[in-house]
Amino acid sequence: MENKQIAITQFGEPEVLAIQSAPMPEPKSGEVLVKVAFAGVNPIDVKTRAGLGWAAAQNKDNLPWVPGYDISGQVVSLGEQADRFSMGDNVAGFIGFPVTGGGYSQYVCVPEGVLSHVPDSVTLEAAAALPLAGQTAVQALDKATVREGDRVLILAGAGGVGHIAIQVAVAAKAEVFTTCSEANLDYMATLGAHAVNYHFAPVSERVEEVDVLIDLVGGDAALDALKCLKDGAQVVTVPTLSAELICEKAKLLGFEATGMLVDPNPQQLDALLYMVSVGLVKTEIQQVYPMTQVVDAHKQIETGHTRGKILLDMQC
Ligand SMILES: NC(=O)c1ccc[n+]([C@@H]2O[C@H](COP(=O)([O-])OP(=O)(O)OC[C@H]3O[C@@H](n4cnc5c(N)ncnc54)[C@H](OP(=O)(O)O)[C@@H]3O)[C@@H](O)[C@H]2O)c1
Repeated sequence: MENKQIAITQFGEPEVLAIQSAPMPEPKSGEVLVKVAFAGVNPIDVKTRAGLGWAAAQNKDNLPWVPGYDISGQVVSLGEQADRFSMGDNVAGFIGFPVTGGGYSQYVCVPEGVLSHVPDSVTLEAAAALPLAGQTAVQALDKATVREGDRVLILAGAGGVGHIAIQVAVAAKAEVFTTCSEANLDYMATLGAHAVNYHFAPVSERVEEVDVLIDLVGGDAALDALKCLKDGAQVVTVPTLSAELICEKAKLLGFEATGMLVDPNPQQLDALLYMVSVGLVKTEIQQVYPMTQVVDAHKQIETGHTRGKILLDMQC
């Protein structure tokens, strides 16, 4: 049986992504073999492919390298002492982060402890949309200790992280404000957020008295959003590139501020899958690309205007 994978052959434009054939992996003790149905595409995959960031630095002498951290699929083989799952179980996971990757594969061996059961009522598409983006959303809100009644401003609410962050914050009974472009205003309202079109005016002219800022944009947009905050507000800035600058400025203004690096946590993925299963969270999937069209999938992420998530169908 063949195991096709998508590899970064060298750092550069999306066209450096190529399909390669690898041997079928055998699960070691404590591992299971997953037949991957869908792999999620994240901005970090695109950044790494371009040769930027920590995962690229760690893998520069290790090309071709298979990216991908989000998978959903089916357990098709059990290693010794792997007893959490049965053959045929639907699973999802946030795997190999940040150095190993490997999710852009038709088959991958994963330690069983990093996987979550996908409930029957959750599709494998929805499950693949959740691991990295969903956990980033939850961890950012946790860091800011969002409470009932808090006014929470989430920059880039329509993106992979943002659309989950809005729903989790709304479920926690926060009053949620967000920024997006015209095309996403109605969508943001359906999630329960007050949306501001950032093309019209800076958010600082529209929103005030904010308790918590979750910044998913960075740079000037984040610096402007600091003007929306009330005394004692908390800032979590998620894009790593500008985190130092935003935190420095926020602290100068008297706010609590921190950057973050998402930390894979299977229990958190269990909780997100549960929220989807009971209808508290709905994943938005802009498009599923066949694995053969991964170049287009990366180009879409590079537009910076993806609504929700982009997935790869790894079996066609
Ligand atoms: N530190 C970490 O551990 C970590 C983890 C995950 C993600 N990240 C970073 O966090 C950021 C967000 O990730 P993501 O997966 O959500 O990205 P994404 O899905 O690619 O974000 C796309 C969204 O950004 C919105 N957007 C673009 N420019 C905007 C602006 N100036 N103001 C408001 N919205 C804007 C777009 O909405 P419109 O089309 O409406 O403009 C689009 O819906 C990325 O920089 C990513 O690398 C960091």
